[in-house]
Amino acid sequence: MPMAPYQNKNNHAAPFITTGLILLCSALLFGLLAAIQYIVPGWGRDTFSFEKLRPLHVSSAVFWIIAGAMGAVLTYLQEHNQQPLKNKALVKWQFYLFATSFAGILISYFFGVFSGREYWEFHPLFAIPITIGWILFIINFTTNHLKLKGAPVYVWMWFTGAVFFLFTYLESNLWLIPGVRNHLVKDMTIQWKSYGSMVGAWNQLIYGSSIYLMDKIAGNKKYSHSPIAFGLYFLGLFNLMFNWGHHIYTLPAHAAIQYIAYIVSMTELYLFGRIIYLWKSSITTARKNIHIRPFQFLLSADIWVFMTLGLAIAMSVPVLNLYMHGTHVIVAHTMGATIGINSLLLLAFAYDMAGSQGEVMIRNKKLIDRGIVLTNISLFVFWLALIIAGFMKSFWQMSDTTEPFGAMMLRLQPYFRVFYIAGLGLATGLGMVIYPLLKKQWTKRLTRNTASEFSGGSYQEKAVEIA
Ligand code: HEM
Repeated sequence: MPMAPYQNKNNHAAPFITTGLILLCSALLFGLLAAIQYIVPGWGRDTFSFEKLRPLHVSSAVFWIIAGAMGAVLTYLQEHNQQPLKNKALVKWQFYLFATSFAGILISYFFGVFSGREYWEFHPLFAIPITIGWILFIINFTTNHLKLKGAPVYVWMWFTGAVFFLFTYLESNLWLIPGVRNHLVKDMTIQWKSYGSMVGAWNQLIYGSSIYLMDKIAGNKKYSHSPIAFGLYFLGLFNLMFNWGHHIYTLPAHAAIQYIAYIVSMTELYLFGRIIYLWKSSITTARKNIHIRPFQFLLSADIWVFMTLGLAIAMSVPVLNLYMHGTHVIVAHTMGATIGINSLLLLAFAYDMAGSQGEVMIRNKKLIDRGIVLTNISLFVFWLALIIAGFMKSFWQMSDTTEPFGAMMLRLQPYFRVFYIAGLGLATGLGMVIYPLLKKQWTKRLTRNTASEFSGGSYQEKAVEIA
């Protein structure tokens, strides 16, 4: 079934991507500042403590993923429906609610306002605009010609991701009830269950958009109706309900729960990696060249799917898993997945929306080429340095050595230095690919061109190609 081209004149979902890219820059900046403390312990403690920098970094990263995923889904929904979003005011409200909450949360961290929770460290009052914003997202999604029967897999994935994210986000706030908060095992189980499911939910949004994009590049709807893609969907659905099992190794739960959770998570990654791998070889050189940037980012993400899978297999060995908690192996796993898979896929969507062939893109061709290479190489070194440091720490934890903690940390210093230099390379590489995207968006605003180049640019190219 061929895909029809659609030119989006004015994409109201584009600001989500632009805001996401700005948040990504913020994540890179605070990540670099936080990492200085690895090599110069106590650096800037009085003004910018690690306790402040870590949430600034992690929340910026998580918000980039959320904003980018919402922007991709709403943009691709319009292309799928071949018409713009019906209620533009509601999309704007959704955007303003999220943009002001994200900004408010980051500002509140500067003033030392925290909830004391891990990852979602902001004051619980911010949960109100975020919940309302997400409800608007669901309304915006479901009121735009949603038809599930016979729909391609990405529509199912978007629907599931949007609904489950709201459910699990509300669940993650159950700690506000004293009966949950005062019961440690209950609190931790709910916390990890909801965090795991939330990641599963945003993965549905992002994997769905990836499958849409793969079909768009291929020019047909082969993958979005394929049994392997529906297999991925059902596994993902099962995973987002049960993957929390592998986050609670330290809690008293039945071992079978953890093993099932592990196997399902890894099979999901494997299937997703395989879909991209098979798709890659079916694309003609001509189509590849027209969509060169999204194609490159999809391929890079595929490599990171398999790298993450490899690390996950190592981490699933129960004895290793037990000792790896609290080490940098976990940080490598989290950052490897959020940068290598989530962020690279989101950049594929952003480049698809911006178009690979416009003036800004052609003028910055070399910059983007080098940025992609630098990003991948730096990320590999960054990831490896964290894994080695993490394993060294876990061996120290496992052995009955009398070596003091401080001496062990000193031994890890060379790896932390490599991590920092690679982090600088990663931030530079990502900066080189973010710059043309923001520049294109900004140039467009200055010229007051109402036709949003940031949306469906590659469809314009596709129209040329078809003509
Ligand atoms: C796309 C870019 C990035 C994303 C999406 C990202 C994401 C994350 C996430 C999700 C965590 C939490 C990890 C965990 O608790 O397991 C984290 C922690 C961290 N990241 Fe990044 N990161 C990015 C880039 C960077 C860069 C360039 C640096 C600089 C070297 C950096 C330094 C750190 C540090 C120091 C931590 C804290 C680890 C700890 O608690 O000891 N990140 N990042």
